[in-house]
Amino acid sequence: MDERRGSLAAVNAEALTAEALAAIEGAASADELEELHVRYLGRKSALKLALREVRDRETGMALNTARQAIEDAFSAREAALAAVPDDDPSFDPTLPGEAVARGSLHLITQLRRRIEDVFLGMGYTVYDGREVETVWHNFDALNQPEAHPSRDPRDTFYFDERTLLRTHTSPSQIRAMQAQDPPIYLVSLGRTYRRDPLDATHTPVFHQVEGLAVDRGITLADLRGTIELFTSAIFGRREVRMRTSFFPFTEPSVEFDITCYLCDGRGCPVCKHSGWIEMGGAGMVDPNVFEAVGYDPEEWQGFAFGLGIDRIAFLRHGLPDLRLFWDNDLRMTRQF
Ligand code: DAH
Repeated sequence: MDERRGSLAAVNAEALTAEALAAIEGAASADELEELHVRYLGRKSALKLALREVRDRETGMALNTARQAIEDAFSAREAALAAVPDDDPSFDPTLPGEAVARGSLHLITQLRRRIEDVFLGMGYTVYDGREVETVWHNFDALNQPEAHPSRDPRDTFYFDERTLLRTHTSPSQIRAMQAQDPPIYLVSLGRTYRRDPLDATHTPVFHQVEGLAVDRGITLADLRGTIELFTSAIFGRREVRMRTSFFPFTEPSVEFDITCYLCDGRGCPVCKHSGWIEMGGAGMVDPNVFEAVGYDPEEWQGFAFGLGIDRIAFLRHGLPDLRLFWDNDLRMTRQF
């Protein structure tokens, strides 16, 4: 009886080996192979159960031979599958990799983020305005007279008589004040549009940063201090100069300059030998603007400022032509 069991087991062992080897050879993935491993060599597999119960040497040897053959087949298939991924038989993971080209942020985006960081550090919020604006937000609410030349369709992109592409970021002031009560400390950055001819110093699309602070007891000195902090964070410590100017939405209005960051005020081609670089416009929010958004100008004061981001990036890096910002020539963009 022992003999019959032994020979039966030997036959079974051979059949089992043949079946297992064929299945292993056909396994197409590591997962499939793992399943087969459980089936043929797992704790509850027929082979392991038979090995646990074996009594005679001959059967034991036959079963061990089968186990060895199956294990060898697993190792071989495992190595083969690791070398060739299922989806691409031509892929050779032993070849050296290709260097991945890393991109970088556009110079304008870098400066935008830097400006945002400086103001976030001062406790300001960043407010997102709209590029498609109403004539009311872009001009009327900002106290811009009906006859102002910037309203001319030769200077401004209109969709219809009530809608346009904003010509500056100042309408963000109006939207923010309509949306919330004071105190407000915000900057708003983004694209602005004017019908300017495209040349080395003009592009019909450009970027501005707008600032607005509304609170009780705000004075021109707060504006000056804020601009000094901001410009020195971007350009290093510089002297700030304010010149009287006019904007319909501020009273009084100023334009502000900083000492040239290239020659430190001595005079050079960047500052056109004046020692100063024009930065932007600013002033105390005009009471008419507060009235347009329903703020009481007797209770609230504020300052606002606005400047061109492209121009500053352009000057800061001594670029010869504003159009370089739009060409996306890698030889240019890779430098920053
Ligand atoms: N909006 C003005 C422009 O586009 C810039 C400006 C000047 C913004 C004075 C202001 C400001 O907020 O107070 O030229």
